Amino acid sequence: MIRDLVVATRSIRRFHQDVAVEQDTLRELVDLARLSASAANVQPLKYVLSCEPQRNARIFPLLAWAGYLKDWPGPVAGERPAAYIVILGDKRLRQSFETDQGIAAQSMLLGATEKGLSGCIIASIQRRELRELLAIPEHLEILLVLALGKPKEKVVLEPLGPDGDIKYWRDAEGVHHVPKRALEEIIVG
Ligand SMILES: Cc1cc2nc3c(=O)[nH]c(=O)nc-3n(C[C@H](O)[C@H](O)[C@H](O)COP(=O)(O)O)c2cc1C
Repeated sequence: MIRDLVVATRSIRRFHQDVAVEQDTLRELVDLARLSASAANVQPLKYVLSCEPQRNARIFPLLAWAGYLKDWPGPVAGERPAAYIVILGDKRLRQSFETDQGIAAQSMLLGATEKGLSGCIIASIQRRELRELLAIPEHLEILLVLALGKPKEKVVLEPLGPDGDIKYWRDAEGVHHVPKRALEEIIVG
């Protein structure tokens, strides 16, 4: 079960934008993050939720999509995320957030998959502009953005080719292929 859920939880970048994601759904996802592991149990993460189309439209241009797909500027209008969760670190509680944000993001993505949604973790963010847009106070560091929605693309996992290239790619049918290293390569002892 958990393996199926992890395999199904892929980074998705094209969505049915017209299928709304409710605020309560976002709250349920954040609740999964809330219950996840936290270094020294400080729980310094805070969240801003967005599922309102006009607000979403202002967040979208502040994010960068699929750096390896050089001729793809990101999802077109109609295929953009229906919701965002901005993951913040409260510097009043801790100066460094260790790996809390990654654990939180994966918990939320797994929960999204279970609900028939998908998403993408985004670290390439115009942080100054996003802070201004969402009126995020200085003591909250912008760590990651989770983009969410009903998936509109197919993603398949591949073994790494003989050239060892880890870059994901898209085929003529628009299927997104993601190379993954073999277990034998990553267990080193
Ligand atoms: C910390 C982190 C930051 C990421 N930042 C971005 C990003 O800025 N833009 C993007 O399109 N994808 C981003 N991704 C998604 C990765 O590109 C994706 O995880 C990788 O291609 C493997 O695909 P998979 O998630 O389906 O296994 C990020 C993923 C992680 C874990």
